[in-house]
Amino acid sequence: MAEDAILGFLQSNDEIADSHEFAASVGVGHTELENVIKSLKGFEIVDSKEITKDRWVLTDEGKSYAANGSPEVQFFLAIPPEGISRADLKVKLGAEIFEIGSKAAAKNKWVGFDKDLVTKKVGSVKDDTKDLLKRIDGGEAVVDKVINDLKRRKLITKYTWRGYSLRKGPKYVLKRKKAATDLTREHLQRGDWKDLEFKEYNLDAQVQPIQIGYMHPLLEVREAIQNIFLQMGFEEMPTNNFVESSFWNFDALFQPQQHPARDSHDTFFLKVPATTRQLPEDYVDKVKRVHEFGGYGSKGYGYDWKRDEAEKNLLRTHTTAVSTRMLYKLAQQRLFSPKRYYSIDRVFRNEAVDRTHLAEFHQIEGLICDRGLTLGDLLGVLEDFFSRLGMSKLRFKPAYNPYTEPSMEIFSYHDGLKKWVEVGNSGMFRPEMLLPMGLPEDVNVIAWGLSLERPTMILYGIDNIRDLFGPKVDFEIIKRSPMCRLGL
Ligand code: PHE
Repeated sequence: MAEDAILGFLQSNDEIADSHEFAASVGVGHTELENVIKSLKGFEIVDSKEITKDRWVLTDEGKSYAANGSPEVQFFLAIPPEGISRADLKVKLGAEIFEIGSKAAAKNKWVGFDKDLVTKKVGSVKDDTKDLLKRIDGGEAVVDKVINDLKRRKLITKYTWRGYSLRKGPKYVLKRKKAATDLTREHLQRGDWKDLEFKEYNLDAQVQPIQIGYMHPLLEVREAIQNIFLQMGFEEMPTNNFVESSFWNFDALFQPQQHPARDSHDTFFLKVPATTRQLPEDYVDKVKRVHEFGGYGSKGYGYDWKRDEAEKNLLRTHTTAVSTRMLYKLAQQRLFSPKRYYSIDRVFRNEAVDRTHLAEFHQIEGLICDRGLTLGDLLGVLEDFFSRLGMSKLRFKPAYNPYTEPSMEIFSYHDGLKKWVEVGNSGMFRPEMLLPMGLPEDVNVIAWGLSLERPTMILYGIDNIRDLFGPKVDFEIIKRSPMCRLGL
């Protein structure tokens, strides 16, 4: 065994000068010996130094001459006593050996050429080339002139050996104890546990990755945002209805019936069931009136409001439909109480699908309903909410929503992308929306919405939404995504 050989040799010798020679002398491969050396060095049982040595080795051509003789000698030996024709000799030797051999043999004056006949000029020859090649192959040193000669003939080539020289290390032993990795019942029964040396724990060792379920990035970001809402005292709204009536999705939000968003090019309408079964009649009347004639200080839109249009079922285009239902419910309480509501759930829009758009996405929605709220409150809450998401540089741009006034688009400066990116939309719900519900006049609602996909794509560096959501998602993205990140 290689280890025994090394340790045994070093017991009576100072040094193993060359691991290659040593490997050859004990009959093990150098790679095997190298592994043993590394392990012994790790435990300081031996000291090793890397050494390099140049050696000459035979090329394939050199090897064949060392085995079969040099071409000139092969040439000489192939000539019978009576001589032979060039053509016959060439057939006997093959063209290559014939060509090389004839030149060298002629130069040595071993052979004569008489017209076509080749004859021997001397009785016997010595194969110096073959002998030299054999000596070099055996590791013997030869004079430079010979080396240069053989190198020129491409019979030898230089090879750099990398090996080690070895000496005893500080913890040298003749035979090392195998460190125990386990304390077994047998050790205890035999009592040999007292003499065992235990292998130390390697606390830096890489462990096998655990095969468990992984959270999809959208779920991770959703949870982080949900926690922010909960920390800010928000309650979750029930969003478990993808199907909504136009009434709650649009009409109750003071969105006129001829608004382009209510077109089938923008909204998915249901064929079955095509219409809703019931709506709160009193409230429907009030909504109809505010659309047609206004009230509460508003002129309304002045058109003929149609119940058929309001009854049409659709896939909700925003979770603001849920906010509306919740506010209506709140307005039905005998005593008003302020509320903070949030939701994160799916919405649907009939959009052309591309790298950044799908026909469905997740909307994050927050609202606060209280007496005397102002735009200043909205700005303050947005600063608080977005800074908890790691977006503390915000800008606001005036915008338009049928149901909010004023309305603001929210932009955040993205340090990584080095630009302002739109992160959401916000506003104060209009009196035309809140007062028909029956909320007290001094109650205001500030609200904002954003998509879950957009911040997730920015955070995870995903530039195609189809890599994040839908049938083409690569499970590796989910496995690779970190379990926890600092900041969002
Ligand atoms: N419903 C809006 C949208 O779909 C978001 C929003 C919510 C805007 C609340 C203002 C207030 O973009």
